[in-house]
Amino acid sequence: RYEKWWLTLGTGSLIIFLIILGISAFHQGHQPPSAKAYINPEQVDAIAPFDEPGLKKVEGKEWDYELVLVASTFLYNPGEVEVPKGATLKIIATTKDVIHGFEVAGTNINMMLEPGYISEYTTTLDKTGEFLVVCNEYCGVGHHTMKSMIKVV
Ligand code: CUA
Repeated sequence: RYEKWWLTLGTGSLIIFLIILGISAFHQGHQPPSAKAYINPEQVDAIAPFDEPGLKKVEGKEWDYELVLVASTFLYNPGEVEVPKGATLKIIATTKDVIHGFEVAGTNINMMLEPGYISEYTTTLDKTGEFLVVCNEYCGVGHHTMKSMIKVV
């Protein structure tokens, strides 16, 4: 009698566990954690704000500068940018082709750029210096040459 009860309970929890696993796998597969909103990667050049990549000073927002960035094999557009110390920077980025990384050495900035998704990161730049931007996702033969720079002055 008791054995049967335990067996039912065991089977029941196993089924619940599998359902939860299935749901979370589904969500992860459809929505990468660092990215939101779907855009057509082939039309990045025509979709705002990516039709005008670059660093812009903004007013009336919680951040001072926006860096609209488009990655493609094997470069970042824009390349080197200069931001004043103490400024809050919002990075809005995507890729035109394959998955690229956007890691700023010596900071917490580390994003995965996935085709079709917009990745965002907001940070305050407290230290002056030249911060190397590197691609940390293997993207092809030129992967190791894919670099840029954020200068905090
Ligand atoms: Cu881009 Cu590695």
